[in-house]
Amino acid sequence: MATPLSLPDDKVKNVIEMRKVCTRFGDHVVHENLDLEVRRGEIFAIVGGSGSGKSTLLREMIMLHRPDSGSIKILGTDIAALSAEEEINLRQRWGVMFQHGGLFGTLNVRDNIALPLHEHTDLDATLINEVAAWKLTLSGLAPETGLQFPTELSGGMLKRASMARALALDPELLFLDEPTAGLDPSGAAGIDALVRTLHDLYQSTIVIITHDLDFLWQVTDRVAVLGEGKVIGVGSMTELSTMDHPIIREYFDGPRGRAAHEQAQENIQSQTRTQIQNKEPTWTQK
Ligand SMILES: Nc1ncnc2c1ncn2[C@@H]1O[C@H](COP(=O)(O)OP(=O)(O)OP(=O)(O)O)[C@@H](O)[C@H]1O
Ligand SMILES: [Mg+2]
Repeated sequence: MATPLSLPDDKVKNVIEMRKVCTRFGDHVVHENLDLEVRRGEIFAIVGGSGSGKSTLLREMIMLHRPDSGSIKILGTDIAALSAEEEINLRQRWGVMFQHGGLFGTLNVRDNIALPLHEHTDLDATLINEVAAWKLTLSGLAPETGLQFPTELSGGMLKRASMARALALDPELLFLDEPTAGLDPSGAAGIDALVRTLHDLYQSTIVIITHDLDFLWQVTDRVAVLGEGKVIGVGSMTELSTMDHPIIREYFDGPRGRAAHEQAQENIQSQTRTQIQNKEPTWTQK
């Protein structure tokens, strides 16, 4: 019996499934029989050294790059055999924040956010501007920022503006490529908080590439470590911290890795202390 191309959405537990994916650029092998799954509703991070193929993997998930072989299913749909119309419909269901921003320099921020709404909805211009203003607010930017051009924004503002555009169509799936790279600690903490808020608000699945260890410990549900062309480990940070693959060990046992782990443990202990303090006594005196 032929495999159906897509399943009803409520039957799809894995929103992304990659099987035996191979990617080469000339002689350079980037992915070799890579398998990966992302579950509905989770915050899933991809980590790995520079050049390990993280951004390429993300570009394959969003159909900007085709692997040389292997299969990819997104939201239950095999992306190898889509009609042009199916492809357009599928693309509307995710938002992307690219590693280098990816906003159009010739458009102001509001028009950048409005662009996907003009392309994919029948909303009139007034409503589109209202939606764009709301996405700006949601991303922590002042309404006036909408009238500025990308080159006029600070690094942190640019990241937030890219986030606002990624959110334009209320995506089920949000892809973020290094959203905190190049930001100072307070700017990075602001983006971390924003990702958490968006996840709580929309319950969307978030796939994020990041080197930010605090974020990995404090925000993600599961993390995949890329190395040697494959996913060499996947699990919660606590699970990964016990795996003994040398690349994973290097990640956790370096000074930054140890510091982030200690901070995460301290946070868990202080949360537990707060929960105990706030708990109603289980006994009552009559
Ligand atoms: N279009 C391309 N043409 C040729 N080589 C490419 C292309 N895109 C990526 N590569 C190569 O593929 C490898 C993986 O690149 P990729 O950008 O996916 O790495 P990354 O893990 O995202 O790295 P970083 O952490 O530095 O962002 C690199 O060696 C890169 O040079
Ligand atoms: Mg990259």
